[in-house]
Amino acid sequence: MATTETNTELGRQIVQDAKDYVLYSWSVQNAINPIAVERAEGRYFYDYDGKAYLDFASQLVNVSIGHSHPKVVQAIKDQAEKLATIGPPMATESRSRLGKLLAEVTPGDLQMSFFTNGGAEANENAIKLARWYTGRHKIIARYRSYHGATAGGITLTGDPRRWAAEPGIPGVVRMFDPYTYRCPAGHPDPCPVCTGAPHLEEILQYEGAHTVAAVILETVTGTNGIIVPPDGYLQSIREVCDRHGILLIADEVMAGFGRTGKWFAVDNWDVVPDILTVAKGINSGYVPLGAMVVREPIAEWVRDKMFAGGLTYSGHPLACASAVASIEAFQEEGIVENAAAMGEVFRTELARLQDKHPSIGEVRGLGCFWGLELVKDRATREPLVPFNGSGEAAKPIAAVMKRALESGLYLMTHWNVVMCCPPLTITRDELDEAIEMLDDALSVADEFCT
Ligand SMILES: Cc1ncc(COP(=O)(O)O)c(C=O)c1O
Repeated sequence: MATTETNTELGRQIVQDAKDYVLYSWSVQNAINPIAVERAEGRYFYDYDGKAYLDFASQLVNVSIGHSHPKVVQAIKDQAEKLATIGPPMATESRSRLGKLLAEVTPGDLQMSFFTNGGAEANENAIKLARWYTGRHKIIARYRSYHGATAGGITLTGDPRRWAAEPGIPGVVRMFDPYTYRCPAGHPDPCPVCTGAPHLEEILQYEGAHTVAAVILETVTGTNGIIVPPDGYLQSIREVCDRHGILLIADEVMAGFGRTGKWFAVDNWDVVPDILTVAKGINSGYVPLGAMVVREPIAEWVRDKMFAGGLTYSGHPLACASAVASIEAFQEEGIVENAAAMGEVFRTELARLQDKHPSIGEVRGLGCFWGLELVKDRATREPLVPFNGSGEAAKPIAAVMKRALESGLYLMTHWNVVMCCPPLTITRDELDEAIEMLDDALSVADEFCT
Protein backbone atom coordinates (compact mmCIF):
# COMPACT_ATOMS: atom_id res chain seq x y z
CA MET A 1 0.00 0.00 0.00
CA ALA A 2 2.77 2.38 1.00
CA THR A 3 4.57 1.66 -2.28
CA THR A 4 1.41 2.41 -4.25
CA GLU A 5 0.94 5.74 -2.50
CA THR A 6 4.57 6.65 -3.11
CA ASN A 7 4.16 5.73 -6.75
CA THR A 8 1.00 7.81 -7.10
CA GLU A 9 2.79 10.76 -5.54
CA LEU A 10 5.74 10.27 -7.90
CA GLY A 11 3.35 10.26 -10.86
CA ARG A 12 1.78 13.50 -9.66
CA GLN A 13 5.20 15.13 -9.25
CA ILE A 14 6.25 14.04 -12.75
CA VAL A 15 3.15 15.65 -14.23
CA GLN A 16 3.71 18.84 -12.24
CA ASP A 17 7.35 19.09 -13.37
CA ALA A 18 6.27 18.44 -16.95
CA LYS A 19 3.80 21.31 -16.72
CA ASP A 20 6.40 23.61 -15.18
CA TYR A 21 9.46 22.80 -17.26
CA VAL A 22 8.55 21.08 -20.52
CA LEU A 23 7.25 22.78 -23.64
CA TYR A 24 4.68 20.45 -25.22
CA SER A 25 4.14 20.02 -28.97
CA TRP A 26 1.04 21.44 -30.68
CA SER A 27 -0.60 22.29 -27.36
CA VAL A 28 -1.90 25.25 -25.43
CA GLN A 29 0.61 24.92 -22.62
CA ASN A 30 -1.84 25.75 -19.82
CA ALA A 31 -4.20 23.05 -21.04
CA ILE A 32 -1.84 20.09 -20.99
CA ASN A 33 -2.56 17.29 -18.58
CA PRO A 34 -0.32 14.41 -19.60
CA ILE A 35 -0.56 10.86 -18.30
CA ALA A 36 2.60 9.99 -16.38
CA VAL A 37 3.68 6.71 -17.96
CA GLU A 38 5.79 4.39 -15.85
CA ARG A 39 6.22 1.45 -18.20
CA ALA A 40 4.84 -0.16 -21.32
CA GLU A 41 4.69 -3.64 -22.76
CA GLY A 42 3.09 -5.07 -25.86
CA ARG A 43 -0.05 -3.16 -26.69
CA TYR A 44 -0.39 -1.55 -23.24
CA PHE A 45 1.18 1.25 -21.27
CA TYR A 46 0.79 1.80 -17.53
CA ASP A 47 0.58 4.88 -15.37
CA TYR A 48 1.98 5.33 -11.87
CA ASP A 49 -1.24 4.02 -10.33
CA GLY A 50 -0.76 0.80 -12.26
CA LYS A 51 -3.69 1.55 -14.56
CA ALA A 52 -3.36 -0.13 -17.97
CA TYR A 53 -4.16 1.68 -21.21
CA LEU A 54 -4.61 -0.22 -24.45
CA ASP A 55 -2.61 1.86 -26.91
CA PHE A 56 -5.05 2.21 -29.81
CA ALA A 57 -2.91 5.01 -31.28
CA SER A 58 0.52 3.31 -31.11
CA GLN A 59 1.45 6.63 -29.45
CA LEU A 60 1.83 8.86 -32.54
CA VAL A 61 1.14 5.94 -34.88
CA ASN A 62 4.75 4.92 -34.55
CA VAL A 63 5.01 2.05 -32.04
CA SER A 64 4.10 -0.46 -34.71
CA ILE A 65 5.86 -3.44 -33.18
CA GLY A 66 4.34 -2.74 -29.76
CA HIS A 67 6.06 -1.61 -26.60
CA SER A 68 9.27 -3.11 -25.18
CA HIS A 69 9.73 -5.73 -27.87
CA PRO A 70 12.50 -7.95 -26.39
CA LYS A 71 14.46 -8.38 -29.62
CA VAL A 72 14.59 -4.66 -30.31
CA VAL A 73 15.46 -3.81 -26.71
CA GLN A 74 18.24 -6.42 -26.71
CA ALA A 75 19.65 -5.09 -29.99
CA ILE A 76 19.89 -1.59 -28.50
CA LYS A 77 21.64 -2.96 -25.37
CA ASP A 78 24.09 -5.01 -27.43
CA GLN A 79 24.84 -2.10 -29.75
CA ALA A 80 25.30 0.31 -26.82
CA GLU A 81 27.89 -1.98 -25.27
CA LYS A 82 29.79 -2.42 -28.52
CA LEU A 83 29.57 0.97 -30.21
CA ALA A 84 27.15 3.48 -28.71
CA THR A 85 27.89 6.27 -31.15
CA ILE A 86 30.05 7.03 -34.15
CA GLY A 87 30.04 9.73 -36.80
CA PRO A 88 28.37 9.50 -40.21
CA PRO A 89 31.72 9.31 -42.13
CA MET A 90 32.44 5.83 -40.68
CA ALA A 91 30.94 2.57 -41.87
CA THR A 92 29.12 0.56 -39.24
CA GLU A 93 27.64 -2.90 -39.31
CA SER A 94 24.15 -1.82 -38.23
CA ARG A 95 23.99 1.06 -40.73
CA SER A 96 25.20 -1.00 -43.67
CA ARG A 97 22.85 -3.86 -42.77
CA LEU A 98 19.93 -1.50 -42.48
CA GLY A 99 20.68 0.10 -45.86
CA LYS A 100 20.74 -3.32 -47.47
CA LEU A 101 17.58 -4.49 -45.65
CA LEU A 102 15.68 -1.39 -46.76
CA ALA A 103 16.64 -2.06 -50.37
CA GLU A 104 15.21 -5.55 -49.90
CA VAL A 105 11.90 -4.73 -48.21
CA THR A 106 11.03 -1.58 -50.17
CA PRO A 107 9.43 -2.08 -53.59
CA GLY A 108 11.04 -2.00 -57.03
CA ASP A 109 14.47 -0.47 -57.40
CA LEU A 110 14.34 1.71 -54.29
CA GLN A 111 17.92 1.22 -53.30
CA MET A 112 19.92 3.83 -51.45
CA SER A 113 19.09 5.43 -48.11
CA PHE A 114 19.97 8.65 -46.38
CA PHE A 115 19.32 8.30 -42.66
CA THR A 116 17.75 11.03 -40.57
CA ASN A 117 16.44 11.47 -37.04
CA GLY A 118 12.80 11.40 -38.06
CA GLY A 119 10.19 12.00 -40.73
CA ALA A 120 10.44 15.75 -41.23
CA GLU A 121 14.16 15.56 -41.98
CA ALA A 122 13.52 12.74 -44.44
CA ASN A 123 11.06 14.97 -46.30
CA GLU A 124 13.44 17.96 -46.18
CA ASN A 125 16.11 15.89 -47.85
CA ALA A 126 13.66 14.42 -50.35
CA ILE A 127 12.58 17.81 -51.69
CA LYS A 128 16.17 19.08 -51.67
CA LEU A 129 17.34 16.11 -53.70
CA ALA A 130 14.32 16.30 -56.05
CA ARG A 131 15.16 19.93 -56.80
CA TRP A 132 18.84 19.16 -57.55
CA TYR A 133 18.02 16.11 -59.61
CA THR A 134 15.41 17.76 -61.81
CA GLY A 135 16.86 21.28 -61.85
CA ARG A 136 13.33 22.52 -61.13
CA HIS A 137 12.07 24.21 -58.00
CA LYS A 138 8.33 23.72 -57.43
CA ILE A 139 6.87 21.00 -55.25
CA ILE A 140 3.21 20.05 -55.41
CA ALA A 141 1.74 18.99 -52.07
CA ARG A 142 -1.83 18.41 -50.91
CA TYR A 143 -4.04 20.26 -48.44
CA ARG A 144 -5.02 17.44 -46.12
CA SER A 145 -1.50 16.42 -45.30
CA TYR A 146 1.19 16.54 -42.64
CA HIS A 147 4.86 16.28 -43.56
CA GLY A 148 6.65 17.44 -40.40
CA ALA A 149 7.40 20.53 -38.36
CA THR A 150 10.71 21.72 -39.85
CA ALA A 151 10.72 24.70 -42.23
CA GLY A 152 10.23 22.67 -45.41
CA GLY A 153 8.10 19.96 -43.80
CA ILE A 154 5.63 22.43 -42.36
CA THR A 155 5.38 24.33 -45.66
CA LEU A 156 4.62 21.06 -47.46
CA THR A 157 2.00 20.37 -44.79
CA GLY A 158 -1.40 21.44 -46.00
CA ASP A 159 -3.32 21.43 -42.74
CA PRO A 160 -3.63 24.47 -40.46
CA ARG A 161 -0.50 23.56 -38.50
CA ARG A 162 1.25 25.31 -41.42
CA TRP A 163 -0.34 28.71 -40.80
CA ALA A 164 1.84 29.79 -37.87
CA ALA A 165 5.02 29.11 -39.87
CA GLU A 166 4.03 30.95 -43.03
CA PRO A 167 5.29 32.22 -45.43
CA GLY A 168 7.55 29.14 -45.20
CA ILE A 169 9.85 28.00 -47.98
CA PRO A 170 9.19 29.19 -51.54
CA GLY A 171 7.96 27.03 -54.40
CA VAL A 172 5.31 24.87 -52.73
CA VAL A 173 1.99 24.72 -54.58
CA ARG A 174 -1.02 22.70 -53.67
CA MET A 175 -3.55 20.29 -55.05
CA PHE A 176 -6.72 18.78 -53.58
CA ASP A 177 -6.96 15.37 -51.95
CA PRO A 178 -8.88 12.29 -53.13
CA TYR A 179 -11.21 12.67 -50.16
CA THR A 180 -14.28 10.99 -51.57
CA TYR A 181 -16.49 11.62 -48.48
CA ARG A 182 -16.05 15.39 -48.71
CA CYS A 183 -14.81 15.83 -52.25
CA PRO A 184 -13.99 19.46 -53.08
CA ALA A 185 -15.16 18.83 -56.68
CA GLY A 186 -18.55 17.48 -55.59
CA HIS A 187 -17.39 14.01 -56.64
CA PRO A 188 -18.98 13.60 -60.07
CA ASP A 189 -18.42 10.27 -61.83
CA PRO A 190 -15.63 10.19 -62.93
CA CYS A 191 -14.24 12.67 -60.42
CA PRO A 192 -11.37 14.84 -61.72
CA VAL A 193 -9.85 15.12 -58.25
CA CYS A 194 -10.36 11.60 -56.89
CA THR A 195 -9.13 9.90 -60.04
CA GLY A 196 -5.91 11.92 -59.78
CA ALA A 197 -4.70 12.76 -63.28
CA PRO A 198 -7.22 15.41 -64.47
CA HIS A 199 -6.80 17.60 -61.40
CA LEU A 200 -3.01 17.27 -61.36
CA GLU A 201 -2.83 18.00 -65.10
CA GLU A 202 -4.83 21.17 -64.57
CA ILE A 203 -2.50 22.35 -61.79
CA LEU A 204 0.50 21.58 -64.01
CA GLN A 205 -1.02 23.61 -66.81
CA TYR A 206 -1.22 26.66 -64.53
CA GLU A 207 2.15 26.12 -62.84
CA GLY A 208 4.15 24.99 -65.86
CA ALA A 209 5.06 21.33 -65.66
CA HIS A 210 8.67 22.15 -66.56
CA THR A 211 9.00 24.09 -63.27
CA VAL A 212 7.79 21.23 -61.07
CA ALA A 213 10.40 19.00 -59.42
CA ALA A 214 8.13 16.69 -57.46
CA VAL A 215 4.72 15.74 -56.21
CA ILE A 216 4.76 14.76 -52.54
CA LEU A 217 1.87 12.91 -50.98
CA GLU A 218 1.06 10.64 -48.08
CA THR A 219 0.18 7.39 -49.83
CA VAL A 220 -2.59 6.93 -47.27
CA THR A 221 -3.16 10.16 -45.41
CA GLY A 222 -2.61 9.75 -41.67
CA THR A 223 -3.25 12.49 -39.15
CA ASN A 224 -5.58 14.37 -41.46
CA GLY A 225 -8.14 11.63 -41.10
CA ILE A 226 -6.96 8.30 -42.62
CA ILE A 227 -7.83 9.05 -46.23
CA VAL A 228 -7.40 6.00 -48.45
CA PRO A 229 -7.14 6.94 -52.13
CA PRO A 230 -9.52 5.17 -54.53
CA ASP A 231 -7.99 2.36 -56.59
CA GLY A 232 -6.28 3.82 -59.63
CA TYR A 233 -5.51 7.20 -58.05
CA LEU A 234 -1.87 6.54 -57.26
CA GLN A 235 -1.16 4.86 -60.59
CA SER A 236 -2.68 7.85 -62.33
CA ILE A 237 -0.54 10.35 -60.39
CA ARG A 238 2.51 8.19 -61.18
CA GLU A 239 1.68 8.24 -64.88
CA VAL A 240 1.32 12.04 -64.99
CA CYS A 241 4.60 12.48 -63.11
CA ASP A 242 6.38 10.14 -65.55
CA ARG A 243 4.99 11.98 -68.54
CA HIS A 244 6.33 15.31 -67.28
CA GLY A 245 9.63 14.20 -65.75
CA ILE A 246 8.35 14.98 -62.26
CA LEU A 247 9.48 12.88 -59.28
CA LEU A 248 6.91 11.19 -57.07
CA ILE A 249 7.75 11.35 -53.37
CA ALA A 250 5.67 9.01 -51.21
CA ASP A 251 5.69 10.09 -47.58
CA GLU A 252 5.18 6.83 -45.71
CA VAL A 253 6.43 8.08 -42.40
CA MET A 254 3.11 6.93 -40.93
CA ALA A 255 1.75 4.51 -43.54
CA GLY A 256 4.94 2.49 -44.08
CA PHE A 257 6.27 -0.68 -42.49
CA GLY A 258 3.14 -2.78 -42.42
CA ARG A 259 0.67 -0.22 -41.15
CA THR A 260 -1.71 -0.82 -44.09
CA GLY A 261 -1.26 -4.61 -44.09
CA LYS A 262 1.47 -4.49 -46.76
CA TRP A 263 5.12 -3.65 -46.18
CA PHE A 264 4.53 -0.24 -47.73
CA ALA A 265 1.26 1.47 -48.56
CA VAL A 266 2.33 1.89 -52.21
CA ASP A 267 2.37 -1.93 -52.41
CA ASN A 268 -1.44 -1.84 -52.23
CA TRP A 269 -1.42 -0.30 -55.71
CA ASP A 270 1.90 -1.64 -57.10
CA VAL A 271 3.36 1.83 -57.50
CA VAL A 272 7.04 2.57 -56.97
CA PRO A 273 7.75 6.18 -55.96
CA ASP A 274 11.04 7.82 -56.94
CA ILE A 275 11.67 8.68 -53.32
CA LEU A 276 10.13 6.99 -50.30
CA THR A 277 10.35 8.70 -46.94
CA VAL A 278 9.98 6.62 -43.79
CA ALA A 279 10.40 6.92 -40.01
CA LYS A 280 8.07 5.84 -37.16
CA GLY A 281 7.44 2.12 -37.90
CA ILE A 282 11.00 1.64 -39.19
CA ASN A 283 11.98 0.89 -35.57
CA SER A 284 8.85 1.94 -33.69
CA GLY A 285 10.64 4.97 -32.29
CA TYR A 286 12.74 3.02 -29.80
CA VAL A 287 15.51 5.39 -30.94
CA PRO A 288 14.74 8.36 -33.23
CA LEU A 289 15.23 7.40 -36.89
CA GLY A 290 13.99 8.23 -40.36
CA ALA A 291 15.17 7.61 -43.90
CA MET A 292 14.87 8.86 -47.43
CA VAL A 293 15.12 5.92 -49.82
CA VAL A 294 15.79 6.68 -53.50
CA ARG A 295 15.43 4.65 -56.70
CA GLU A 296 18.37 3.43 -58.69
CA PRO A 297 18.48 6.24 -61.32
CA ILE A 298 18.69 8.86 -58.58
CA ALA A 299 21.24 6.78 -56.67
CA GLU A 300 23.34 6.47 -59.83
CA TRP A 301 23.03 10.20 -60.52
CA VAL A 302 24.18 11.18 -57.04
CA ARG A 303 27.17 8.80 -56.92
CA ASP A 304 29.62 11.16 -58.63
CA LYS A 305 28.31 14.29 -56.89
CA MET A 306 28.68 15.80 -53.48
CA PHE A 307 25.48 15.24 -51.53
CA ALA A 308 25.07 18.62 -49.85
CA GLY A 309 23.21 17.38 -46.83
CA GLY A 310 24.14 15.93 -43.47
CA LEU A 311 23.25 15.36 -39.86
CA THR A 312 25.56 14.64 -36.93
CA TYR A 313 23.39 11.65 -36.04
CA SER A 314 22.74 10.34 -39.56
CA GLY A 315 22.76 6.56 -39.35
CA HIS A 316 23.19 6.50 -35.57
CA PRO A 317 24.30 3.01 -34.48
CA LEU A 318 21.60 2.60 -31.80
CA ALA A 319 18.89 3.69 -34.20
CA CYS A 320 20.12 1.46 -37.00
CA ALA A 321 20.60 -1.57 -34.75
CA SER A 322 17.06 -1.19 -33.43
CA ALA A 323 15.70 -0.90 -36.98
CA VAL A 324 17.55 -4.02 -38.15
CA ALA A 325 16.17 -5.96 -35.18
CA SER A 326 12.68 -4.58 -35.78
CA ILE A 327 12.62 -5.47 -39.48
CA GLU A 328 13.92 -8.96 -38.67
CA ALA A 329 11.22 -9.37 -36.04
CA PHE A 330 8.62 -8.26 -38.60
CA GLN A 331 9.87 -11.01 -40.92
CA GLU A 332 10.22 -13.72 -38.25
CA GLU A 333 6.91 -13.06 -36.54
CA GLY A 334 4.76 -12.31 -39.59
CA ILE A 335 3.85 -8.88 -38.24
CA VAL A 336 2.79 -7.44 -41.61
CA GLU A 337 0.60 -10.49 -42.16
CA ASN A 338 -0.96 -9.98 -38.73
CA ALA A 339 -1.71 -6.35 -39.60
CA ALA A 340 -3.48 -7.54 -42.75
CA ALA A 341 -5.47 -10.18 -40.85
CA MET A 342 -6.48 -7.70 -38.15
CA GLY A 343 -7.48 -5.34 -40.97
CA GLU A 344 -10.22 -7.77 -41.94
CA VAL A 345 -11.44 -7.86 -38.34
CA PHE A 346 -11.42 -4.06 -38.29
CA ARG A 347 -13.43 -3.97 -41.52
CA THR A 348 -16.16 -6.19 -40.08
CA GLU A 349 -16.23 -4.80 -36.56
CA LEU A 350 -16.17 -1.12 -37.52
CA ALA A 351 -18.97 -1.70 -40.04
CA ARG A 352 -20.96 -3.26 -37.18
CA LEU A 353 -20.31 -0.18 -35.04
CA GLN A 354 -21.40 2.03 -37.93
CA ASP A 355 -24.72 0.19 -38.08
CA LYS A 356 -25.20 0.83 -34.41
CA HIS A 357 -23.94 4.40 -33.93
CA PRO A 358 -25.61 7.25 -35.85
CA SER A 359 -22.54 9.42 -35.16
CA ILE A 360 -20.36 7.36 -37.52
CA GLY A 361 -20.54 8.97 -40.96
CA GLU A 362 -17.83 6.97 -42.65
CA VAL A 363 -15.46 4.12 -41.81
CA ARG A 364 -12.28 3.89 -43.85
CA GLY A 365 -8.91 2.23 -43.64
CA LEU A 366 -6.59 -0.67 -44.34
CA GLY A 367 -4.61 -3.02 -42.10
CA CYS A 368 -4.23 -1.42 -38.66
CA PHE A 369 -4.86 2.09 -40.00
CA TRP A 370 -8.53 3.08 -39.65
CA GLY A 371 -10.54 6.22 -39.16
CA LEU A 372 -14.10 6.80 -38.02
CA GLU A 373 -15.43 10.07 -39.34
CA LEU A 374 -17.99 11.31 -36.82
CA VAL A 375 -20.93 13.48 -37.85
CA LYS A 376 -23.86 15.22 -36.17
CA ASP A 377 -26.13 14.15 -38.98
CA ARG A 378 -25.46 11.39 -41.49
CA ALA A 379 -27.71 12.95 -44.12
CA THR A 380 -26.02 16.37 -44.13
CA ARG A 381 -22.60 14.99 -43.11
CA GLU A 382 -22.20 17.93 -40.71
CA PRO A 383 -19.00 17.04 -38.85
CA LEU A 384 -19.15 16.38 -35.12
CA VAL A 385 -16.30 18.90 -34.79
CA PRO A 386 -15.80 21.51 -37.54
CA PHE A 387 -12.65 21.86 -39.64
CA ASN A 388 -9.83 23.00 -37.34
CA GLY A 389 -12.28 23.06 -34.43
CA SER A 390 -10.78 23.51 -30.97
CA GLY A 391 -11.88 24.53 -27.48
CA GLU A 392 -15.68 24.58 -27.15
CA ALA A 393 -16.15 23.27 -30.71
CA ALA A 394 -14.01 20.22 -29.99
CA LYS A 395 -15.86 19.26 -26.82
CA PRO A 396 -17.76 16.33 -28.39
CA ILE A 397 -14.57 14.56 -29.46
CA ALA A 398 -12.88 15.39 -26.16
CA ALA A 399 -15.80 13.71 -24.40
CA VAL A 400 -15.36 10.58 -26.53
CA MET A 401 -11.64 10.43 -25.75
CA LYS A 402 -12.28 10.95 -22.05
CA ARG A 403 -14.82 8.14 -21.86
CA ALA A 404 -12.46 5.81 -23.73
CA LEU A 405 -9.56 6.72 -21.49
CA GLU A 406 -11.60 6.08 -18.36
CA SER A 407 -12.25 2.55 -19.52
CA GLY A 408 -8.58 2.11 -20.48
CA LEU A 409 -8.52 2.80 -24.22
CA TYR A 410 -6.04 5.39 -25.46
CA LEU A 411 -7.29 7.07 -28.64
CA MET A 412 -5.87 9.59 -31.07
CA THR A 413 -8.35 11.91 -32.73
CA HIS A 414 -8.21 14.64 -35.35
CA TRP A 415 -11.13 17.10 -35.28
CA ASN A 416 -14.05 14.76 -36.03
CA VAL A 417 -12.05 11.64 -36.85
CA VAL A 418 -11.28 8.89 -34.34
CA MET A 419 -8.17 7.01 -35.41
CA CYS A 420 -7.85 3.29 -34.76
CA CYS A 421 -4.15 2.55 -35.14
CA PRO A 422 -2.97 -0.06 -32.65
CA PRO A 423 0.43 -1.76 -32.77
CA LEU A 424 0.50 -4.22 -35.67
CA THR A 425 1.18 -7.02 -33.18
CA ILE A 426 -2.28 -6.65 -31.63
CA THR A 427 -4.02 -9.97 -30.96
CA ARG A 428 -7.63 -10.79 -31.80
CA ASP A 429 -8.57 -10.80 -28.10
CA GLU A 430 -7.01 -7.38 -27.58
CA LEU A 431 -8.75 -6.03 -30.65
CA ASP A 432 -12.09 -7.33 -29.38
CA GLU A 433 -11.41 -5.69 -26.02
CA ALA A 434 -10.62 -2.39 -27.77
CA ILE A 435 -13.71 -2.53 -29.97
CA GLU A 436 -15.88 -3.05 -26.90
CA MET A 437 -14.43 0.04 -25.20
CA LEU A 438 -14.74 2.01 -28.45
CA ASP A 439 -18.36 0.95 -28.78
CA ASP A 440 -19.04 2.35 -25.32
CA ALA A 441 -17.16 5.62 -26.03
CA LEU A 442 -19.10 6.16 -29.25
CA SER A 443 -22.36 6.26 -27.34
CA VAL A 444 -21.06 9.61 -26.02
CA ALA A 445 -20.71 10.86 -29.62
CA ASP A 446 -24.24 9.72 -30.44
CA GLU A 447 -25.58 12.12 -27.81
CA PHE A 448 -24.41 15.04 -29.97
CA CYS A 449 -26.32 13.83 -33.04
CA THR A 450 -29.26 15.90 -34.20
C1 LIG B 1 3.06 11.48 -42.84
C2 LIG B 1 4.04 12.13 -41.93
N1 LIG B 1 5.13 12.72 -42.43
C3 LIG B 1 6.05 13.30 -41.67
C4 LIG B 1 5.91 13.33 -40.30
C5 LIG B 1 6.95 14.00 -39.46
O1 LIG B 1 7.71 13.05 -38.78
P1 LIG B 1 8.58 13.47 -37.51
O2 LIG B 1 7.62 13.93 -36.46
O3 LIG B 1 9.32 12.21 -37.17
O4 LIG B 1 9.50 14.56 -37.95
C6 LIG B 1 4.79 12.74 -39.71
C7 LIG B 1 4.60 12.77 -38.26
O5 LIG B 1 3.55 12.51 -37.74
C8 LIG B 1 3.83 12.12 -40.55
O6 LIG B 1 2.73 11.55 -40.04
